[in-house]
Amino acid sequence: MRLIFFGPPGAGKGTQAKRLEEEMNIVQLSTGDMLRAAIREGTLLGKEAKGYMDAGKLVPDGIVVGLIRERMHGEDCENGFLLDGFPRTVVQAEALEKMLDSQKCSIDHVISIEVGDQEIVNRLSRRRSCPDCGAVYHLDNLPPKVEDVCDACQKQGLLHRDDDVPSAIQARLSAFHDQTEPLREFYQERGLLRSVSGSQGPDEVCSEIREVVSISG
Ligand code: AP5
Repeated sequence: MRLIFFGPPGAGKGTQAKRLEEEMNIVQLSTGDMLRAAIREGTLLGKEAKGYMDAGKLVPDGIVVGLIRERMHGEDCENGFLLDGFPRTVVQAEALEKMLDSQKCSIDHVISIEVGDQEIVNRLSRRRSCPDCGAVYHLDNLPPKVEDVCDACQKQGLLHRDDDVPSAIQARLSAFHDQTEPLREFYQERGLLRSVSGSQGPDEVCSEIREVVSISG
């Protein structure tokens, strides 16, 4: 199974991808996580990407396409993958299509997780995540059991992302509407787009996605 999770920043793409990757035995490929890892490691690519990310702008297509091309050759992708945050422009979608064509495979479903802008601002400003294992929390909707401690790995000190501040959130929403939303039409034309309501609780969103991809829950 090869899936794309499509939606605005904070729609719940990462939350749902982490739930479904084990259940479906496919790997989550998040360009945002790859770029943040490059920043932590201090690579040239990470240094170049950081300015764009902190400002809430998209990183240039050539960088993210290169990351995905390299990652998709990993052995762990043989059974399929779940793309989280890629593609985000028509140029990226076309590059992905070419990559998959050359491997004689294709995307099965593009799952659009629909959430309004006001809810997005609330979700991102109250999000926290674990610097070690990447588990994602929300201070009101999905708080950790012990304040500031990760439930999954017990790491103390949950992070507030540098781009989860009001100015960057607004810029990310604009980038989504201007550069990423045209992909709806791109995938609708190919008969791949499936919409689910992302404004329900995480369990309900997960059930709707399961129904869409026809796996039992
Ligand atoms: P990226 O890391 O991909 O960020 P994003 O798309 O902005 O998405 P998020 O990770 O912020 O949100 P999400 O949808 O995963 O939501 P989450 O599950 O965490 O990209 C970051 C940056 O990297 C970009 O701005 C860009 O600069 C660059 N970049 C990355 N990919 C790129 C590409 N392809 N091209 C160019 N540049 C690229 O949930 C959010 C919050 O809501 C959490 O607190 C969670 O607990 C809560 N929540 C989740 N689901 C629910 C629910 N159902 N109900 C209530 N609360 C919920």
